[in-house]
Amino acid sequence: MENYAVFGHPIAQSLSPQLHAFFAEQTNQKMQYVAKLAQIDTFEQEIATFFAQNGLGCNITSPFKQRAFALANLHSERCLRAKSCNTLKKMPDGKLFADNTDGLGLVSDLQRLNWLKPAQNVLILGAGGATQSVLDALLKAKQHIFLANRDIEKAQALVEACKELGNLQAIKLQDIPQHGYQLCINATSLGLNGEDFTLLDQWACQIPHFYDMQYRLNADTPFLAKVKSFATNAGVDGLGMLIAQGAESFKLWRGVTVDWLRVLNSFRK
Ligand code: ATR
Repeated sequence: MENYAVFGHPIAQSLSPQLHAFFAEQTNQKMQYVAKLAQIDTFEQEIATFFAQNGLGCNITSPFKQRAFALANLHSERCLRAKSCNTLKKMPDGKLFADNTDGLGLVSDLQRLNWLKPAQNVLILGAGGATQSVLDALLKAKQHIFLANRDIEKAQALVEACKELGNLQAIKLQDIPQHGYQLCINATSLGLNGEDFTLLDQWACQIPHFYDMQYRLNADTPFLAKVKSFATNAGVDGLGMLIAQGAESFKLWRGVTVDWLRVLNSFRK
């Protein structure tokens, strides 16, 4: 059996095993994909053991994306920009190749929604690892990005690292100016511990489209629950991004393209 996996901590919530089972069935690939709960102290050893025991590729999720980046021998250009890795592949010579497919996943889903217009103003909330993973792809899609973070120095550091790629600037989350944003993307971890998004009350009612990089299968995310209170706005969660990034990992490993929209429709049902 050809072995693949997703490593994270926690991992029980991961949809990736189901996702890759759909992809394998759709493209007639004989492979196994399982979820692995990696331990914080032994992640690197667990990855080494997986690849030593015939593992061919794996996805990496929280909190190990930066450590996976550090342990790899080779990196894609987008992975180098993200400084984090969500996909590892064993190369024929045994070296580990690191990629990051999150940005492509986000841009693919925004294209599906027809929410990506060139040179539009996009407000991104958060300047952590999730934001860093998608900036490269959004800037290449010619978005004008306003990066809002509670700790503005983190946003400024990302602007400094990416400024040659396009148009972006850092702003304070507590003090978001009006700029006629066409899209607002939530890339914070806010809401995961029950916090709400009252900060949107100040400026959000003018924005037509909201995208949450978090997702929930059978309920609104806290961000989308807030967006729905502004009757005229449209909000979508990150399930499409998750599926599209997974499809790109699958293509890297298996060399085949999946119809990820079909898989998204199956999940939504
Ligand atoms: P990830 O890798 O998932 O992006 P992270 O690097 O911990 O996780 O980043 C979390 C993001 O959510 C950061 O932008 C963080 O803001 P700070 O850099 O100012 O800490 C943001 N965040 C988390 N909790 C928040 C809160 N209660 N209010 C506002 N922003 C918050």
